[in-house]
Amino acid sequence: MPLVTTKEMFEKAYKGGYAIGAFNVNNMEIVQGITEAAAELNAPLILQVSKGARSYANHTYLMKLVEAAVAETGLPIALHLDHGDSFDICKSCIDGGFTSVMIDASSKPFEENIEITRKVVEYAHDHGVVVEAELGTLAGIEDEVNVSAEDSSYTRPEDVQEFVEKTGCDSLAIAIGTSHGAYKFKPGTDPKLRFDILEDVEKRLPGFPIVLHGSSSVPQEFVKLINENGGNMPGAIGVPEDQLRKAASMAVCKINIDSDLRLAMTATIRQYFNEHPEHFDPRQYLKPARAAIKSMVAHKLVDVLGCDGKA
Ligand code: G3H
Ligand code: 13P
Ligand code: ZN
Repeated sequence: MPLVTTKEMFEKAYKGGYAIGAFNVNNMEIVQGITEAAAELNAPLILQVSKGARSYANHTYLMKLVEAAVAETGLPIALHLDHGDSFDICKSCIDGGFTSVMIDASSKPFEENIEITRKVVEYAHDHGVVVEAELGTLAGIEDEVNVSAEDSSYTRPEDVQEFVEKTGCDSLAIAIGTSHGAYKFKPGTDPKLRFDILEDVEKRLPGFPIVLHGSSSVPQEFVKLINENGGNMPGAIGVPEDQLRKAASMAVCKINIDSDLRLAMTATIRQYFNEHPEHFDPRQYLKPARAAIKSMVAHKLVDVLGCDGKA
């Protein structure tokens, strides 16, 4: 099976009350950990590549790793550009074989966001590629851009219909309180997503797939392992998984997870080195790191996204 777009995945996910996991990939062990879990659970997948991932690992290497995963697993896998910040990077990924791109012009004024998104949609649709756009801004760090909590803003439901009609985008990322990175909520506060906004958006765009970025739950067992093994991540707090599960049962069809992969990998490697200070073969410490990603992704697919058995 070749790489697929997200069109059919989202239609089924919307109707079925579940969501597809969109996991960021940067190297072979990450691709393998994610796709081995999905293969065992027969789950559809979105593997996504950021601008930073492209400059770290190179477009062609990532493309070939994902193609290898498709060949090994036979799963429906979409290859997606995460947070494309210009027409040019979207075009480069479309020309280079991606099946889905995100144009993130959410920090631009509304009319400008519409204009650039529409331009990407025209090019993408001419090439059989689907487009995710964003309205509202999330706090946190994406590539070199750091959006402070004060500068973030929830999506305005009254804008979504006009935006989708004028741009022709295929899915829409909205801001309802999630944020990028490992520090999403202040310690001691009660983390709550704005389900009232999601419900309002759902009413205005019936049947339209919604995307949640910044959806790592920051498992405390990994934060603890990191802190016990020489790291320093006090106050790392994520989105409660029961709230993500609720969002997945609503209009949310794609849930983005990256930080949790980083935490699983880093916690495992830190612990490994503490226990085996004499080891220096990368295969020795990358093997358990890959296994930790696999079991974390398996848990997400079953308990958070509900997409196991849906490939
Ligand atoms: O939303 C951002 C993703 O976690 C990708 O992060 O830009 O550091 O690759 P990155
Ligand atoms: P996290 O930092 O919560 O994993 O979010 C990832 C993301 O939104 C990628 O686009
Ligand atoms: Zn994101």
